[in-house]
Amino acid sequence: MESPVTKSDINLQKMREIKRLKSVEDKRVGSEVFDRITLQTLYKLANQGYIHLLNGAISTGKEANVFKGADEEDTLVAVKIYRVTTSDFKKMQYYIQGDPRFNVRSNSKRQLINNWVLKEFKNLNRAYDAGVRVPKPIVAKNNILVMEFIGDENGTPARLMRQVKISNPEYVANKILDYVKKLYNDAKIVHGDLSAFNILIEDDEPVIIDLSQGLVVDHPLARELLNRDIDNLVKDFKKMGMDISKDEIKRKITDL
Ligand SMILES: Nc1ncnc2c1ncn2[C@@H]1O[C@H](COP(=O)(O)OP(=O)(O)OP(=O)(O)O)[C@@H](O)[C@H]1O
Ligand SMILES: [Mg+2]
Repeated sequence: MESPVTKSDINLQKMREIKRLKSVEDKRVGSEVFDRITLQTLYKLANQGYIHLLNGAISTGKEANVFKGADEEDTLVAVKIYRVTTSDFKKMQYYIQGDPRFNVRSNSKRQLINNWVLKEFKNLNRAYDAGVRVPKPIVAKNNILVMEFIGDENGTPARLMRQVKISNPEYVANKILDYVKKLYNDAKIVHGDLSAFNILIEDDEPVIIDLSQGLVVDHPLARELLNRDIDNLVKDFKKMGMDISKDEIKRKITDL
């Protein structure tokens, strides 16, 4: 007769699974992604059912690695893990200061990263609630953010706008402008790093990602970043064959 599976068995099984996958991932992305606290955080998220499996790196960036994972119900999720060793703390400090949502007094790098991740999570929530198509945020813990996976049903991640030949440029450009407007007027945030590098195309629809740098609209840097976002969009739209001026975009966004 089979022995009954207890709750702790299942948890241990999950932990072993993640440990096994860790050794696979380590070879690919370098062991600095999974320091002790990151692993403990992954175990915690596994025990809470948020991540059952981590399988495959989607992206290995300057500061964060994004993995494809699955939750307890086998629904695909994207897991963004910030590396404590290689993050740009100066930049993080610069953007977090002046944001009334955060009161970062500590000089601890880990603390700063945790707040950075929380900021991305909160920005995603605000955007999602305002009807902007972003990955649905699921949970943020320490240096790890779990969110909806953007891609097809076979598990292939969506491609960046800069890599895709847009078949419906006018529709896509207007959708993006509508989202920037909703971000500004309803979510009350500025993306701060908006360009074809942070927009995914899923089923011909734009999806805005990477809101870590996002700021509340009354932050002292908000205007400057909004201007930069708009400049980037003008260039990206031009590449798509759409001639939309900076002033036109500004008018559309702020209704001024
Ligand atoms: N929810 C998601 N679903 C599918 N793919 C995603 C998702 N989030 C991010 N990605 C992929 O991971 C890449 C990096 O994500 P993101 O832009 O959020 O990180 P980043 O901060 O730019 O990383 P870095 O600046 O360190 O390169 C994206 O370009 C995209 O290809
Ligand atoms: Mg990015």
